[in-house]
Amino acid sequence: MQPPKKIDHLGIAVASLDEATTLYGEVMGLPCEGTEVVEGQQVRVRFFTLGESRIELLEPTSDDSPVARFIAKRGPGLHHVAYRVDDLSATLAALKAADVRLIDESPRRGAHGMLIAFAHPKSTDGVLTEFCQPAPD
Ligand code: CO
Repeated sequence: MQPPKKIDHLGIAVASLDEATTLYGEVMGLPCEGTEVVEGQQVRVRFFTLGESRIELLEPTSDDSPVARFIAKRGPGLHHVAYRVDDLSATLAALKAADVRLIDESPRRGAHGMLIAFAHPKSTDGVLTEFCQPAPD
């Protein structure tokens, strides 16, 4: 497959966006890019700019959201690594051909106007892995 361009962002699961913002926004001084709710994943996310990359904080909006289950099981922490690609559909086809287990077989809408898809951590050395591409208008 075409190698990813960069680490687009690191996703960090937190119990409270506002509490976590003290560290990332105020103490570390990372500029906040905004906050949005992603209904499909039952999360509220907040992005912070970090050079060419970003930090994505994820706060569950319901007790049975995947992020809520993640926090209940393991506590807050690193949730996923997201790689920026140019052609997400081609990336998914290449991953599938290589027998990488996919959570999303086709691109879907994520936060920040991106098309995203997740690969299963069982196939990616224990790291929940997101591939993302800016959505065409
Ligand atoms: Co993400």
